[in-house]
Amino acid sequence: MSKVSVNSIQIMKNKNKKITALTAYDYSTAKILDIAGIDMILIGDSLAMVALGYETTHQVGMDEMLVFTKAVANGAKRPMVVADMPFMSYHSDIKTAVENAGDFIRAGAKAVKIEGGTKYIVEVVKHCVDVGIPVLGHLGFTPQFLHTIGGYNIQGKSVENTVKILEQAQELQEAGAFGIVLEMVPEEASKYITENLKIPTIGIGAGRFCSGQILVLDDLLGKYTDFTPKFAKKYANLADITKTAVTAYVKEVEENSFPSIEHVFNLDEQEKIRLENINNLKN
Ligand code: KIV
Repeated sequence: MSKVSVNSIQIMKNKNKKITALTAYDYSTAKILDIAGIDMILIGDSLAMVALGYETTHQVGMDEMLVFTKAVANGAKRPMVVADMPFMSYHSDIKTAVENAGDFIRAGAKAVKIEGGTKYIVEVVKHCVDVGIPVLGHLGFTPQFLHTIGGYNIQGKSVENTVKILEQAQELQEAGAFGIVLEMVPEEASKYITENLKIPTIGIGAGRFCSGQILVLDDLLGKYTDFTPKFAKKYANLADITKTAVTAYVKEVEENSFPSIEHVFNLDEQEKIRLENINNLKN
């Protein structure tokens, strides 16, 4: 089992082998994804909504993200563990950005993901890479910019916008980013962007021609029911499976058929008799 690294990710892109990525937020799930052969696990700030029930990703902070990162890093051995830097953890100044990125590496991540492609973000990427922290960029729809974008809108819908995303991606590449997540971009645009980059693109709602794909695991499993984006394929319906199992449990506890004999511990015979004797003496 060789661990997935920035080098193996680049080799996969060069050999046209698709990169597989999913989000995970806890130890036992990370272990399952590892066994199932996933290449990259992202502790996405989507956990704000999916695991913590916040309204947007803006509400999750460093302390919370670090706890989930430690849990995933403990469970994932082969996949590359990437931590999403939360809103305002890299926006105020470069020193704070690099220190926060370093905290994720100390927590067990092998890289961080940063949204956006402005000159400032390119500088942040450069400084992180300079101190040995690999960075995955994120362009197209970037949820931390939700309020300036004005909604969950597809990006790169015109040639001008597509070219702008490509230029930002090339600057991030130049700064040392090892890959770019492309979110909610028409597939013709993401194909053009992918073909004009040396580093891989990992698509989410960006069509068939990216170097790899990522989804939010809870969407794939049918577990997060507040909202399912068009691009997310449901491979299971964990919400229904969980509801059926819990309903059966509630019924069995209420009618006293759980726990049954195979789920209980018993005293050995001698202790049983002694306990009965104590009881008899009392009565
Ligand atoms: O937060 C997240 O889960 C993401 C996606 C790319 C899946 O950023």
